[in-house]
Amino acid sequence: MIEIHGLTKVFGSFKAIDRLDLRVEPGEIFGFLGPNGAGKTTTVKILSGIMRPTSGRVSVAGFDLDSAPLEAKRRLAYIPDEPFVYPKLTGWEFLRFMGDLYGVDPDAQRREIPKLLEQFDLAAQSGELLESYSHGMKQKLLIASVLLRKPKVVLFDEPTVGLDPRSIRRFKTLLAEIAAAGAAVFMCTHILDMAEKLCTSIGVLNAGQLIARGTVHEVKLLSKAPSSATLEEAFLALTEDAAGGLRPAV
Ligand SMILES: Nc1ncnc2c1ncn2[C@@H]1O[C@H](COP(=O)(O)OP(=O)(O)OP(=O)(O)O)[C@@H](O)[C@H]1O
Ligand SMILES: [Mg+2]
Repeated sequence: MIEIHGLTKVFGSFKAIDRLDLRVEPGEIFGFLGPNGAGKTTTVKILSGIMRPTSGRVSVAGFDLDSAPLEAKRRLAYIPDEPFVYPKLTGWEFLRFMGDLYGVDPDAQRREIPKLLEQFDLAAQSGELLESYSHGMKQKLLIASVLLRKPKVVLFDEPTVGLDPRSIRRFKTLLAEIAAAGAAVFMCTHILDMAEKLCTSIGVLNAGQLIARGTVHEVKLLSKAPSSATLEEAFLALTEDAAGGLRPAV
């Protein structure tokens, strides 16, 4: 569902991503871990089509982002770490707008939108302008718009930052539902106990390079941490040298 081959991104003389190869299959909940500055957000920005790679190829749902960007983007949803919504739309209008933009049947929108607003505790504020929404409310509205669209690939960058505990619980259930429907979930996160419980596979990015990839169990084995180690302990062992975060010069 997501294919990345030899992806490299250079900013000036700084190599943020270094020949990354990665595949994520339908139904997978992939947790993308890595220290601050590892290149996770840069990778999802490239996957979403809002940033161009320096070199390498990326495809989403079988469509190459370079040669068929519209086909690819139609099938993906990107929830950035800083939620962007149109400030002068209401919550209801935003969901209608997203539904229309992505060709969701108007009858389905009328059925689904009230349910989604209810599910995310946004019904009471759905007539208010989004400029008055809190960070967490905007985040929930964006997640609701993903469920309305039913994309093939969902990219989340730190999705639970700003969500209250009840919303986080709901979000976890939704992730499982999205994956069970056959979509691929790609999630950058620092919340390792959530990743350990929820993700069907893990990738660890360190200074722009993938240093581990596999199930939680496989990543723990790779880390050479004790067999009883948590994912957090495995992550810390794997990224021990990361403090330098030295990347090869371009
Ligand atoms: N537009 C840009 N111009 C120059 N450097 C950039 C740009 N975007 C990212 N970088 C650099 O690329 C590196 C990777 O950044 P990125 O935001 O992808 O990290 P991250 O893994 O998402 O980190 P975090 O966990 O803090 O969110 C960082 O060193 C960052 O400073
Ligand atoms: Mg980031």
